[in-house]
Amino acid sequence: MSILQGKKIILGLTGSIAAYKSVFLLRLLQKAGAEVRVCTTPSVSEFVGELTLSGLTGEKVFSGIWEENWSEHVEWGNWADLFIVAPLTANTLAKMAHGLCDNALTAVYLAARCPVMVAPAMDVDMYRHPRTQANIKILSQDGVQVLPTGSGYLASGLQGPGRMMEPEEILTQVEQFFGPQPLQGKKVLISAGPTREAIDPVRFISNRSTGKMGYALAEEAQALGAEVVLVSGPTSLAPPAGVNLLAVESAQQMFEAVVGEQPTDIVIMAAAVADYTPAEVADEKIKKKEGDMAIPLQRTQDILRYLGGKKPAGQILVGFAMETQHELENAQKKLEAKNLDFVVLNSLREKGAGFGHNTNKITLLSKQHPPQTFDLKSKREVAKDIFSGILTLI
Ligand code: CTP
Repeated sequence: MSILQGKKIILGLTGSIAAYKSVFLLRLLQKAGAEVRVCTTPSVSEFVGELTLSGLTGEKVFSGIWEENWSEHVEWGNWADLFIVAPLTANTLAKMAHGLCDNALTAVYLAARCPVMVAPAMDVDMYRHPRTQANIKILSQDGVQVLPTGSGYLASGLQGPGRMMEPEEILTQVEQFFGPQPLQGKKVLISAGPTREAIDPVRFISNRSTGKMGYALAEEAQALGAEVVLVSGPTSLAPPAGVNLLAVESAQQMFEAVVGEQPTDIVIMAAAVADYTPAEVADEKIKKKEGDMAIPLQRTQDILRYLGGKKPAGQILVGFAMETQHELENAQKKLEAKNLDFVVLNSLREKGAGFGHNTNKITLLSKQHPPQTFDLKSKREVAKDIFSGILTLI
């Protein structure tokens, strides 16, 4: 039996070209056994006919707040197990973030007692606009699960992020939401992104890490029901909904944040922590002089090694290894030297793996099992594979 059997879901549509995809989402949810009601903002009728929506649900679409029984939105808000807004336009996002309530959908949102999931859909520049990003942050902080957008061709002809998550992927998110939560009650710390090691007030040493793998791990840990702390170096990513983000810059700050959050049940160090930092940070901007220059560097504290040396019974420690040669051998050494339970090995030689990509190809090494190599997958799917390994130890 599907996990969605008998679940009550309100699907909220807003006026975006992506609204046509929500007709498929509606069918997918129904096929999985959910009972679905639809509410819309007024402009949805420009994109999808109300007859299509009511025809599929067999119920009236809730679209006009003034035409209904005055307390209709309250009844809907109490009825549902989950409220999904897909597509979510920049306009309705802003209204939800600021508590505006001028149509059926925003009224249902404010009245909803159930968890809320949203799938934004907008043009790349609207999506990247600081106001939109700030509004996404507000919704996340309010506990709304903001689904990531896809990248690619948009209806405007522009390319980039802002495309609504595909209906099948949204269905997976919904199934996960209602699914078993094996990490309920567990505290999971994930580090992500690069660190920045200051040379002077304007310059730093860093690396090409974008944080995508660590953020995907945080999202998965969240979906599995964990309390998630994400210690992140500078990235351009929005933290997953409900995750406790600790933003840091340097390796030393990351060390303090990670150690300060102990004890935890699981630690995954996905961050590309600098191994060296300038021995001294100049107070003033360094002026150029004739001839070459050298910057003396000193080793940073190895966070994983430190945690491995103090590992409490039952804690699961996971490290990453990025190797270009003798991959398995080097990763195996890391597993033992840092007292880890798993090492996630990614090779820079693999196409589509490593820094910046949306995909990754990993080999999972552990003390218990022989190395397991996975196919090239999206980082979110890779995160699932890593957690499948971790769950065998819980
Ligand atoms: N790590 C850490 N603290 C550091 C450096 C790295 O916790 N100061 C963690 C990383 O987050 C990662 C793992 O250790 O999980 C990587 O191990 P590291 O020994 O740094 O290996 P690489 O950088 O992959 O390679 P190399 O051995 O060449 O340094």
